[in-house]
Amino acid sequence: MCGIVGYVGPGSSLDVLLSGLKRLEYRGYDSAGISVIDQEKGLQTRKRAGKLKVLVDDLALSPLPDTHIGIGHTRWATHGAPNDINAHPHLGGEHLKLSLIHNGIIENFSELKKELIDFGVKFSSETDSEVAAHLVAREYETVNDLTQAFRNVVRRLQGAFTLLCIHEDYEDLILAARRNSPLVIGLGVGENFLGSDVAAFVEFTKKAVAVGQDQIVELRADSVRITSFEGAEIIPETFEVSWDASAASKGGWPSFMAKEIADQPQAVGDTLMGRLSSDGSVKLSEFSGLSSLTEMNRIIIIACGTAAYAGEVAKYAIEKWAKIPVSVELAHEFRYRDPVLDSQTLVLAISQSGETMDTLMAVRHAKELGAKVLSICNTQGATLARESDATIYTHAGPEVAVASTKAFTAQLTAGFLVALALASMRKSMGAVELRELGLELLKLPRHVKEVLESVERMRFLGKRLSGAKSILFLGRNVGYPIALEGALKLKELAYIHAEGFAAGELKHGPIALIEQGQAVIVVVPSPKGNHSLHPKVISNIQEIKARGAVVIAIAEKEDRLVAESADEVFEIAPTNPIMSAVLAVIPLQIFAMELANAKGLDVDQPRNLAKSVTVE
Ligand code: F6R
Repeated sequence: MCGIVGYVGPGSSLDVLLSGLKRLEYRGYDSAGISVIDQEKGLQTRKRAGKLKVLVDDLALSPLPDTHIGIGHTRWATHGAPNDINAHPHLGGEHLKLSLIHNGIIENFSELKKELIDFGVKFSSETDSEVAAHLVAREYETVNDLTQAFRNVVRRLQGAFTLLCIHEDYEDLILAARRNSPLVIGLGVGENFLGSDVAAFVEFTKKAVAVGQDQIVELRADSVRITSFEGAEIIPETFEVSWDASAASKGGWPSFMAKEIADQPQAVGDTLMGRLSSDGSVKLSEFSGLSSLTEMNRIIIIACGTAAYAGEVAKYAIEKWAKIPVSVELAHEFRYRDPVLDSQTLVLAISQSGETMDTLMAVRHAKELGAKVLSICNTQGATLARESDATIYTHAGPEVAVASTKAFTAQLTAGFLVALALASMRKSMGAVELRELGLELLKLPRHVKEVLESVERMRFLGKRLSGAKSILFLGRNVGYPIALEGALKLKELAYIHAEGFAAGELKHGPIALIEQGQAVIVVVPSPKGNHSLHPKVISNIQEIKARGAVVIAIAEKEDRLVAESADEVFEIAPTNPIMSAVLAVIPLQIFAMELANAKGLDVDQPRNLAKSVTVE
């Protein structure tokens, strides 16, 4: 949470900072602020509560000088209410010549604050971050060297932090430090950038460096120096950003979410590209980073939220095709019990951002216990990728809307690739059968496109149900995690009560919720692929209808039994029953988005949320 951006170079710092913040706003939107250093006026800061637009409007009315160095921040509040004072940057020193922004939580801030108060420092905000600003400013007064002062201070901080700091005395230097929070450098020609992720600067440069754990960056227009907290030189490893800057703009769509839903045929297709040949055979070159894959005797999938639902679907695929036992764990639960795992356990971590702190902590814990880690990640240079033994990138492109859509379908696709590649490696299925599955997977982008072309009725239903107090979702087999995902989308976008249930669980309690007019969305398994499950779900539909439910079914084309029993049916193309998860979720995404739109809500930035959850 919180987005940070920094710029030093000949360009306009205001332009770079504001466009970077716009692209990072998904990380938090409680307040925003910037500091720049002007040769005449010195350090200039402006910060405002509310979304970035409030700051932009403020700057339009009363501009700051346009300079060549600056830092910017968009906040997701942890310590202190989201108001102007708690907004970043925070200033430090007697004459407030130092400006600092922070992403993360400084866990020992209370004792540090007490120490500063004892020295007579006056605090203006309730944040943990202001402590760092004052500490660096005080230390600078003592050691008279900003980099040394910054280094001395970051070594005292505990918790998670990315810090960016500028000082009026240094018109060409941004200092940055990173521990347990993300930081990426963008390398330009005669100019350099810093950002929470590459989206911050992809418009200006595609050459980047991911900053490692416990490292300090001294960034100038024409040089970058990276050292460890202790001062050891680090040789930067550059990478090329594959995202296109235009991919992070709305491109004429009413919202990023609408655009990202529409991007899904490409996201799925790009994730398959180079990994699945036209004859249906799968090759994951990424597996070469994992030496002992054939000896693995079980897989634990670790993720949070939507990514965990992708993991639930991957479990069905891996167990069915590769015959390896799989369990799916919410990262924050896994980390704080005593999981039993060893060197024959493969941990599969799934994360769009690759920066979710819960997932990172779980991965670190698994590694300490000897497990190998394979990750599925959408963001180049992300911490998760750096800390995994191997990474399969989903090529969904930047996902800006807070609620995950295209990253989810790309994660599902990557999960199928992993399952097929493992099956091939372990020979758990015949080659012909495997290639048939591969060929079916190749058809997915086209099927996704067809679903998107026929969603009008789902849009209408979303609008029509905008007054509902509660909507329930049911599914079986892979339809169950899809029901959970449909309910999550609705909760986060439309702020109405929604719950997903395994349809088989209905009679064990949840059916008591059904009353006259209760809307229930049912993800129906394929009648062909799931001979035994299909009639059971049809019976569930009958049972809830008999008690007054209004049923909207997501079902395979020409499923006659569903057409006879449900009130509304949204049809998806017949495909492999496990792969059908990718198609079934799309109408649920559209439904939630339209319902939220009908309520006049901001679908890109739902309340209280941030896209990248970088605190535990
Ligand atoms: C919901 C959503 C979240 C994320 C979760 C994990 O729409 O986006 O539930 O899936 O916070 O995020 P990543 O995938 O970045 O680890």
